[in-house]
Amino acid sequence: MPDTNGTLALRVTMERYDVKVGPITHLAAERARLNGLTWQHFDAKQLSATIGAVIGGVDLTSDLGGPVVAELRQALLDYKVLFFREQPLTPAQHVAFARRFGELELHPFIPANRDQPELVRFAKSADVGGYENGWHSDVSWREIPSMGAVLHAVEVPASGGDTLFADMNAAYEGLDEDLKARVDGMSAVHDYLLAFARQVKPEDRERTRAQYPPAVHPVIRTHGETGRKLMYVNRGFTDHIVGLDPDESTALIDRLSREADTIEYQCRWSWEPHSVAFWDNRAVQHYACSDYWPARRVTERASIIGERPV
Ligand code: SIN
Repeated sequence: MPDTNGTLALRVTMERYDVKVGPITHLAAERARLNGLTWQHFDAKQLSATIGAVIGGVDLTSDLGGPVVAELRQALLDYKVLFFREQPLTPAQHVAFARRFGELELHPFIPANRDQPELVRFAKSADVGGYENGWHSDVSWREIPSMGAVLHAVEVPASGGDTLFADMNAAYEGLDEDLKARVDGMSAVHDYLLAFARQVKPEDRERTRAQYPPAVHPVIRTHGETGRKLMYVNRGFTDHIVGLDPDESTALIDRLSREADTIEYQCRWSWEPHSVAFWDNRAVQHYACSDYWPARRVTERASIIGERPV
């Protein structure tokens, strides 16, 4: 029952610690809205409060009709991440499915599938560690970052290797009013060098710098399709916030990034071979658990070109 005098819905700070407990009430409306959705071409099982749904009754290896694709696109906007089981996609089918949602990007720094350059291949093993265990939005260092990504599990470890997703609208809405007022209107510089400097040979630095100059994006962007406000900084790719001194900037990026740690804003996906995750890269950040070394884990990702964040 909703609390009529407001006391049950209060968050309280734990004695002696800077930690708040209590219900996160701003999730309720979005959770209820998602609970009420129904679909014509597939079924959807909500995975968490405001983010994630497991979609059943769709074969991604087949040539899907326009109405199914349109409905999947709507479901992506609503749930922010769609998950599918038992989708044994060939690389060509993977590319074909992702292309139904837009043109695909080529990643300049991560190795690709041998036959399909549009598929970034994360092939982890005893020799190659998983370094994607930091909250991030893909390629925020591009002037035009991707709108979404389709990740296919090719090989999974016996246990571990989950991927977590966090709802960046929930993160923004959870900020207190003072912090919202402070960051609304701020811009931040994102730079591929933070994450990929080691992948670029010294002789290629000048060329890649010219090709991928530091990108300036709003700290709080507005989703081009849903109109929702989204937190859009991450420790992996955001170099600094424009106009702040370096310590202040780092502290603010860290403070905002910590919002993604809020478990109530997250969903967690355990992979099986041929599972697929399709996320709205504008609306979420993700974190690939790196708890399976030295086992092998191979995933491939197609990224759909998006729009300039505003
Ligand atoms: C990534 O896109 O960061 C990789 C995600 C994963 O392999 O789970």
